[in-house]
Amino acid sequence: MTPPKAVLTVADKSIELPVLEGALGPNVVDTRTLGAGGLFTYDPGFLSTASCTSSITFIDGDAGLLYYRGYPIEQLAERSDFLETAYLLWYGELPNSDQRKQFEAGVMRHTMLHDQMLSLYKGFRRDAHPMAVMVSIIGAMAAFYPESSDVGDAHEREISMFRLLAKVPTVAAWSYKYNRGEPFIYPQNGMGYAENFLHMLHATPCEPYEPSPVLARALDRIFILHADHEQNASTSTVRMAGSSYANPFACIAAGTACLWGPLHGGANEAVLKMLAQIGDVSRIGEFVAKAKDKSSGFKLMGFGHRVYKNMDPRAAIMRQTCHEVLDELGLHDDPMFKIALKLEQIALEDEYFIQKRLYPNVDFYSGIVLRALGIPTSMFTAIFALARTAGWIAQWGEMVANPAHKIARPRQLYTGLQRREFVPVALRE
Ligand code: CMC
Repeated sequence: MTPPKAVLTVADKSIELPVLEGALGPNVVDTRTLGAGGLFTYDPGFLSTASCTSSITFIDGDAGLLYYRGYPIEQLAERSDFLETAYLLWYGELPNSDQRKQFEAGVMRHTMLHDQMLSLYKGFRRDAHPMAVMVSIIGAMAAFYPESSDVGDAHEREISMFRLLAKVPTVAAWSYKYNRGEPFIYPQNGMGYAENFLHMLHATPCEPYEPSPVLARALDRIFILHADHEQNASTSTVRMAGSSYANPFACIAAGTACLWGPLHGGANEAVLKMLAQIGDVSRIGEFVAKAKDKSSGFKLMGFGHRVYKNMDPRAAIMRQTCHEVLDELGLHDDPMFKIALKLEQIALEDEYFIQKRLYPNVDFYSGIVLRALGIPTSMFTAIFALARTAGWIAQWGEMVANPAHKIARPRQLYTGLQRREFVPVALRE
């Protein structure tokens, strides 16, 4: 079969462009040769532009599908766990039982931070946002592992990948402990990944903390759901930073910084703030009306998605988990949860939201679950970053190992002044 072609006509000139077919999803017009002819494509916000090839994650936003390496997210959330999912994202296949044991042991052996890092924490104000601390500490790791700069060395790359996945929970938990003025709790390598994180967050030297298996499982599920999401803003940031062969710690710090924004990973924190602001079921109508009024600049946090124009499949799983956790903790009468459920119902029935295909996204429910797990709002985005580290690393590894790799260098549509001559200060009006 002849491969499909696209024809672009600019003025009187026709340019033939190859059309690339993915394994799933829409075809892509290959515009790479346009630049040589002095023509660029313009697509701010990447609304119609594929920035890379990738075989890690597939999303069909219209159908509400999310696959990691071909496995539907529902199956992984139900039957896998986060570390196994990370293995799948990195290596492309689920591990057999020996590989699984080795991987878990390999990750859990690297959980401790270099002791000198304690001094870094102590340089921050006590009220520093955990994300500000995480961006700095993750970036600073490059100073502790200088050999990681050799990104051409596959072995060094793999060690950095393990270090990042293993240490990010410690980095996140300690940013919270520092904030609270409590002593840092060291990781317990014999615990599960999510269990250990809850332990580092909630235990103190005077009181042990034994996470309930239901709650540890709920957190592990949050990690799975957030582990990867193809070329979103933070993953694209990791790829952009990594395209210069910057060290992996710098790249993951860049991704963490991007994720912090309220339109991306900051949304689950923003959802809880919004629910607190609403305060009572009787005020929901007022907030929905404000969200529909463009001049207010207000959006309903936790609604809408660039890609999902149908129910976000992660949101459906998170909604279920939300009920399980609230049942386990006997919190179904929690006023915040009542407001959330009512808001969800009103927005789903509202013409504005139906017409614009705005559904609750994963962050709408994950905030409520995290709150029920006793995790403070300021840590929500940090938990998203912790989970997404698995995907960022997989995407970074895929990019760096690609022999056809090129540094990312977007072009622009220049809208400034044309050439003019310098005027000495004495002659300027
Ligand atoms: N509340 C009210 N109106 C909205 C909302 C919302 N949450 N989201 C989008 N709209 C409107 C928007 O004003 C626009 O209207 P119009 O066509 O009249 O100009 C229309 O719907 C399309 O929205 P958009 O902003 O052009 O869509 P986008 O793809 O650029 O943005 C989004 C997607 C997620 C940034 C946006 O929906 C939003 O800001 N949502 C609230 C923040 C949020 O929950 N973010 C978490 C995203 S999921 C986690 C992640 O992947 O990071």
